[in-house]
Amino acid sequence: MFITHPPAPSTRDRRATGCDLPKSMNKKSSLTPRSPLASRRGFARFPASVNLTVIAKLPGSFACALWLTFGGSAPAAQPEAVPVPARERILFNSGWRFAKSDPANTGTNLTYRQLKPWLLPAAREFTTNAPATRPNGNLGEEVAFTRTDFDDGNWRALDLPHDWAIEGPFDQSLPGETAKLPYAGVGWYRKRFTLPQSDAGRHIALEVDGAMSFAAVWLNGRFIGGWPYGYSSWRLDLTPHLNFNGTNVLAIRLDNPPESSRWYPGAGIYRNVWLTKAAPVHVRYWGVTITTPHVTTAAAEVHQTVAVVNRSRLSATVKVSSLIYELNTNGQKSLEPVATNAGTQLKIASGETVTPEFNAVVWNPKLWSPTTPHRYVAVTKLEEEGRVSDTVETPFGIRTIQFTATNGFLLNGARLPIQGVCLHHDLGALGAALNLRAMERQLELVRQMGCNAIRTAHNPAAPEFLDLCDRMGFLVMEEAFDAWRMNKRTNDYSLLFDDWHEADLRAMIRRDRNHPSIILWSLGNEVYEQREGTNAWLAEELADIAHQEDLTRPVNMALHVVAASTNGFQRMLDVFGYNYTPFGYAAFHSNNPAVPLLGSETTSTVSSRGEYFFPVSTNRRDGRMDFQATSYDYAAPAWAYMPDTEFKAQDENPFVAGEFVWTGLDYLGEPTPYDNDTTNRLLFTDPQTQAQMDALLAAGKKIPVPSRSSYFGILDLCGFPKDRFYLYQARWRPELPMAHILPHWNWPERTNQVTPVHVYTSGDEAELFLNGKSLGRKKRGPFEYRLRWDDVVYQPGTLKVVAYKNGRRWATDVMKTAGPAAKIELTPDRKLVKTDGQDLCFITVTITDKNGWLVPRANHRVRFSLEGPGEIIATDNGDATSHEPFQQNHRAAFNGMALVIVRSKAGEVGKIVLKAEADELKGREVLIRSK
Ligand code: GAL
Repeated sequence: MFITHPPAPSTRDRRATGCDLPKSMNKKSSLTPRSPLASRRGFARFPASVNLTVIAKLPGSFACALWLTFGGSAPAAQPEAVPVPARERILFNSGWRFAKSDPANTGTNLTYRQLKPWLLPAAREFTTNAPATRPNGNLGEEVAFTRTDFDDGNWRALDLPHDWAIEGPFDQSLPGETAKLPYAGVGWYRKRFTLPQSDAGRHIALEVDGAMSFAAVWLNGRFIGGWPYGYSSWRLDLTPHLNFNGTNVLAIRLDNPPESSRWYPGAGIYRNVWLTKAAPVHVRYWGVTITTPHVTTAAAEVHQTVAVVNRSRLSATVKVSSLIYELNTNGQKSLEPVATNAGTQLKIASGETVTPEFNAVVWNPKLWSPTTPHRYVAVTKLEEEGRVSDTVETPFGIRTIQFTATNGFLLNGARLPIQGVCLHHDLGALGAALNLRAMERQLELVRQMGCNAIRTAHNPAAPEFLDLCDRMGFLVMEEAFDAWRMNKRTNDYSLLFDDWHEADLRAMIRRDRNHPSIILWSLGNEVYEQREGTNAWLAEELADIAHQEDLTRPVNMALHVVAASTNGFQRMLDVFGYNYTPFGYAAFHSNNPAVPLLGSETTSTVSSRGEYFFPVSTNRRDGRMDFQATSYDYAAPAWAYMPDTEFKAQDENPFVAGEFVWTGLDYLGEPTPYDNDTTNRLLFTDPQTQAQMDALLAAGKKIPVPSRSSYFGILDLCGFPKDRFYLYQARWRPELPMAHILPHWNWPERTNQVTPVHVYTSGDEAELFLNGKSLGRKKRGPFEYRLRWDDVVYQPGTLKVVAYKNGRRWATDVMKTAGPAAKIELTPDRKLVKTDGQDLCFITVTITDKNGWLVPRANHRVRFSLEGPGEIIATDNGDATSHEPFQQNHRAAFNGMALVIVRSKAGEVGKIVLKAEADELKGREVLIRSK
């Protein structure tokens, strides 16, 4: 029997059930075999009968489904191992050659205009309207770098992931919003490799997790495809063009147009690249989809679809089976499966894809949540003639999510306020080049302040980042685009939208829909189309695409135009995301009582770690000085506001699901409020600087603004907490006894002057003492989130705060006037690194007085040297105005601190000793082991 899927559901009536997807939209529910949970009482450990659905899927269509039901019980007998591994996924990062330009004769032969008809067929797997075939001929064969015989011996040898732009140099003439780094331009990567004869007959693919951008790929001199959007993951079939008797040459050209990003995008093959070898009949790329349609504490139904493709010339008969294991915190499988699908035989015609569906039950499931990030893994096996021919492991989690219009976000049935931050993808001094440990550290840092959610602003994340979120327990709002058709920058995604949005959106969701961390698909950030209701059909189209790929998660957008809350956009979305509109929450709710609401982007407070401007002003536009921003946490650009404002709005409107603060960490680019060269001299206080600036202005010129990274971060570019970190910690971790004093207390020039003191605490009351004398006990009033002593008159010495909660002593903090700088302290974030050549140790450098107190304005240049199996790969200090290369092995401290990043060497065990020295200071060594 064939059943035709209903047409793609319209999103128009999505409001019917509040935040839940309307039942009418649950197109799977009309097709899915009866759930074992729904149909059976008296659960046994394994279901006595397993339903299996086979969908014969026509290429590019969702149209036909064939339903079969099979019986099964105990786990399948394990087939014998075969000599050739069933599937190999080999990291293909090493041994590349790189050059940063086109050969002379390229001309306009490889512009996107030329490339487009050649690239578009790659979208066909995701769209119905992309051309099926490439034009005749061979694109780029006249360009020397594409050719097999081209000698790239004098190109630079490197390993991926690689970001050519982070290598600099910073260039004052380049835009601050893209970090004054040379991301624009063309880069070529080439790699030679051989394959054993035994691989002939296997299906071999290149998988690229992300390459920035407009990738075009040649294999052995033939153009074979590519992908323009730099944040998408994509795959190319290499099989038809491979040599098994000689060398193969891959050539990848990337091209970043200028004015293509509002932040630093990075440049190059900045994520992992894989070579995948599989049998001709195999589980398709991103071919396993797992959902958990029914979850109780007693049992969870696990529904799987497995797309199996037959790339051989003959029809094939395969057995598909699947076992479900628990994963421990190290990602290791339990010894025994917790559920099993014994499997069934499928006959698959040559060129066809068959998509069987399985239902299994996991009893007493361990539910995934930020505090209990339990994971499972489905191990899907194909067997041909009794031998395992393919194995795919798909980690997943079991949890329920629900956005409500009246009670925010519910995870596993309980309200969980979203305490989120937005993150761009760069890793500070390491640039955009993916590094697992650097990403993990970012998450560890924001976790310390109680953050439980990440918004991947404004693009699909690296797959490894989402794995980390699953494993560490972060909710994720994954975002597809920053622009649709209407551009924000001349050469941004608007160039691609019409041709690629469907493919990019489907690719993101297909790749990522098994991650338990993901709770929302965001269709876009502040796209200009939102201003006109007549554009709402675009939101509807994208929402439909998202729902076709995944019915288990709601779709939202991040919208900053109030009109979008009434002009029709709001009806196209399952969840409405407001950017910077805390005063609009109540009105939104009364206009749209059934629509769940989220603060999808909030605050954008700016500050520089350790900078405090006087007199302290609560005017958010005040206090610009020396290209830094004050850390009293009032300063914000015109559209933005301080954290306290958002807290109040969230508290007054508890129906709001929470917030994603802009941003967790500082990022490269977008150095608001110092985006551009300026015609006013800001509030420079130093007379010498004032005179210089005045001279520049008098000469009719602008003042060159050096800023190249953001001031928005709650932590700075090094990952050092700014004061704001503690304001969020106080709110987001109310159970943690903590108090934090600001500013620092080294103001010799302010003796006897008013120097306000603020305290962030999870307590509700606090008493401040200066040199033992009480300056008064203060209680937080309603909707107050910080305690202020505005009249403190500076005297050097000791500031101490004692915080109380419910009348009981709760926490203290002490801030002392430090003595002269005397020594360097080194604090590694870990003492042991893995010898994989990727693992990192982040070492915090502080300049202290002889008693170990941070000297808050110390700016000594610290020189680093290293012995042993490691290398210094970057240094930084969090100063957004510095143009010193990140790769150098010395760094001036910024407000008393700097950072050194040390990487292990592949395969080399031993002791790494990092030494730090500075003139006039006692140096320091630290020992790290590489094991
Ligand atoms: C938002 C935008 C972000 C960032 C932020 C800075 O409007 O969505 O990408 O530019 O402003 O405040």
